[in-house]
Amino acid sequence: MCGIVGYIGHREAYPVIVKGLKRLEYRGYDSAGIALINHGMKLYKKKGKVADLEESIVGKDVQGHIGIGHTRWATHGEPSDRNAHPHLSNDGSLSMIHNGIIENYALIKQDLIKKGYTFSSDTDTEVLLNFIQDIKQNNNSTLEEALRVALKRIVGAYCILLIDQNDPDTIIAARKGSPLVIGIGKGEHFLASDATPIIEYTKEVVYVNDYEIAIVKADEIILKNLGNEKQTPFITKLDMELATIEKGGYDHFMLKEIYEQPDTIFDCLRGRLLTHSGEIRMAGIDNNLETLCNAQRIVIVACGTSWHAGLIAEYIFEELCRIPVEVEYASEFRYRNPVINEGDVIIAISQSGETADTLVALESAKEKGAFIFGVVNAVGSSIARISHAGAYTHAGPEIGVASTKAFTGQLAVLTMMALKIAQAKGTITHERYSLLMKELEAIPEKVKEILADTSHIKAIAEKYKDAPDALFLGRGFNFPVALEGALKLKEISYIHAEGYPAAEMKHGPIALVTEELPVVFVATKDSYYEKIVSNVQEIKARKGMVIAVATNGDTVIPGMANDTMFVPDADELVAPLLSTIPLQLLSYYVGVAKGYNVDMPRNLAKSVTVE
Ligand code: F6R
Repeated sequence: MCGIVGYIGHREAYPVIVKGLKRLEYRGYDSAGIALINHGMKLYKKKGKVADLEESIVGKDVQGHIGIGHTRWATHGEPSDRNAHPHLSNDGSLSMIHNGIIENYALIKQDLIKKGYTFSSDTDTEVLLNFIQDIKQNNNSTLEEALRVALKRIVGAYCILLIDQNDPDTIIAARKGSPLVIGIGKGEHFLASDATPIIEYTKEVVYVNDYEIAIVKADEIILKNLGNEKQTPFITKLDMELATIEKGGYDHFMLKEIYEQPDTIFDCLRGRLLTHSGEIRMAGIDNNLETLCNAQRIVIVACGTSWHAGLIAEYIFEELCRIPVEVEYASEFRYRNPVINEGDVIIAISQSGETADTLVALESAKEKGAFIFGVVNAVGSSIARISHAGAYTHAGPEIGVASTKAFTGQLAVLTMMALKIAQAKGTITHERYSLLMKELEAIPEKVKEILADTSHIKAIAEKYKDAPDALFLGRGFNFPVALEGALKLKEISYIHAEGYPAAEMKHGPIALVTEELPVVFVATKDSYYEKIVSNVQEIKARKGMVIAVATNGDTVIPGMANDTMFVPDADELVAPLLSTIPLQLLSYYVGVAKGYNVDMPRNLAKSVTVE
């Protein structure tokens, strides 16, 4: 949430920062701003997208070799020009951008107001900035010292970049709980919330850790902890190509990412799922096989779409490994003082690896002695680093706000993980193990088959786009797929949608069924098939409109449904990897048909770094 970019070096800072902000816009897009130092501080801010900011700056002085920029997802104060970052200190010398939340800002603000400070925004950021200015003046200290004192007194999460017009050769950065990467160029440095604004200039980066301050000049980075002790910057090489963060001819990132799935799932399986030798090689599991096999309980902690992947994993792990599994919303798990016993394994699932609710939940579980296994997409992210072990999903950068390819990557990793543990524990027969390996291996080609012609899904989307509500139903492995389908439709098309286990309908929700209500059934051929056929009949008997996801060759479900989206046949354990694809496309096409910005749905942001 909120994207941060900074530049210092021999180039003009403005174009680097604007381009970087556009790359980070998925993190927040309600307002944007830039501060540059060139004979004094220049500040430009605008409500709306980065393009609106750019337009508002045309003809203005944007020269300078040092600058910071921000794209915002509002927390304190409505989206507006005045609440946009960067903010300016009362004395006009300092400018700051911030991603995160300062929880005790109200008390600090009261104190500052008593001292005569004024505020031109409603943000916690402006409070922190003036707090730093106040400490600097009162203690007659350097900016770095003042920042260190301030950070020790605030409660909350932050990634901040700070510049001082009296020191145009330095950007000071700090982080706790919100990500920060520094790209190392020749006589220049790039700072950003993730590597996407940096990738076209350099592949050498330093990930700043929590409680570290970075003093960044054109030709050096000094890293320190809050105790003023120097830390050694650990340089990492980025494994990312520019093409992966560009639209590549697609209308939207979401569509591109849906279409990338045959490749991303393949990449996830590659080198791990070795069907010829019957092996699954995953270092994070191999090195901790005993801990995982002896788990008394697995607790899966995640949010949103990743939580849905966790629900599917619950079915898979219980079925194959016979280990009890609980799936928790990270935000609830964190705050209800959960019981964590020795022998519990926590699996954290996260695309961004930065989701604050998940991260904080893991921190407290780790303190209580739990073993943490991370299933993460973003390499080097906070959740990846806090985990004892893990497996990356290797889906590549996901830019569209709605998660698609990361979800199927998570399912692929979790399925391999369950297979591997089940084999080691002896809870799966050799035949079933071999069959499921082959089933998994065949998934990328089957996804390709679904994507080969999507015109009928587009037509279904056009037909139902004006429905005010929709229900998504499934059973067994496909129940969480129904939840995911409903979430996708809600966030992309703003249609109110609910997911339910199909059998639950008769316990209440069936009262909603009318001739106008589209009911989406995920009804592929599995062990629940006969039951779901009855559930479809119950809806048809009440004149509901049924849209079905059915297996190729099935005639029963399509015979009852008003419209059908077909997927290839697959074992029920891996079927969610297929049945989810038409639902992603359905939401995409409904959103597009309604004229919405599917990559940046209203009120949302990717990488939710506030609790
Ligand atoms: C929905 C979506 C969100 C995320 C959730 C968790 O399409 O993208 O629900 O799944 O915010 O994010 P990660 O996986 O980054 O922890």
